[in-house]
Amino acid sequence: MAARGRIVAGLLAPHPPHLVYAENPPQNEPRAECGWETLRWGYERLRADLAQVEHDVLVVLSPHWQTYVGWHLLGVPRFESLSVDPVFPNLFRYRYALDVDVALAEAIHEEARAEGLVSSMMRNPDFRVDYGTLVSCHLTDPAWSRPIVAISSCRASAYYGVDVMQEQAIALGRATARAIEASGRRAVLLSSNSLSHRHFTTEGPLPEDMSREHITHHGQHLWDMKAIRMLREGRTRELVSILHELTTQAIGETDAGSLTWMLSALGFPTQGAELYGYGTVIGTGNAVMGFWPERAA
Ligand SMILES: [Fe+2]
Repeated sequence: MAARGRIVAGLLAPHPPHLVYAENPPQNEPRAECGWETLRWGYERLRADLAQVEHDVLVVLSPHWQTYVGWHLLGVPRFESLSVDPVFPNLFRYRYALDVDVALAEAIHEEARAEGLVSSMMRNPDFRVDYGTLVSCHLTDPAWSRPIVAISSCRASAYYGVDVMQEQAIALGRATARAIEASGRRAVLLSSNSLSHRHFTTEGPLPEDMSREHITHHGQHLWDMKAIRMLREGRTRELVSILHELTTQAIGETDAGSLTWMLSALGFPTQGAELYGYGTVIGTGNAVMGFWPERAA
């Protein structure tokens, strides 16, 4: 019998394409001269910590794969294509080639159905993987050394409301944890989202001109600091209980369900998360953070 699987890390891994642009990796066409360093240094430190932890797979839930009828999972072993960000084609034209842990995806799909959720496997080999999935995975593992499981965001927040989304994301988190445990995998979860998310609607001639970068609104900064404080103090249930307010007042990207899903899968940890970095990107608030359950034990 295979060893019991477990979640070895739960990472808040936001996906502004600007961070990939500023790193100038070989996969991305546009070139930058600098930019958003505090976040990129945060990701660097996160990667150094992750390198110390044995793991088999990244499981990511992205706000930019939007499905209205249930939660979908990539169900083809390999995807290879060019991803062009629809909003920032000047910053992100990224060649990707990634492997999918289809067996684990199918197991999460089955457990999600057992929770009463609507779920389906995405079997189209020509499907274009969304940039949220790509950016969070790239920044966590630029070499793409591990397979991934990618889960869509069921837009229950938009179609019904944040509370319905949260109920579903909590159930999906339970399903994910059970599937990982049965799989024998050592999994890293990625909550691919910013915190506050109202952003600028214009761009300067040089996108990486940091003299223009700041939070859009003071109210957003207050919400970001409150969320970070709660995550660092392990007040995760409390955070989820006020996520409706954060999401509506700070236009949080938490509307996608990624953060609620991850915290639920981790069993609402009371051990605080490590903060690797905070910074704004086109006015949105982004924190790179990590829960390390084995460290807590
Ligand atoms: Fe986004």
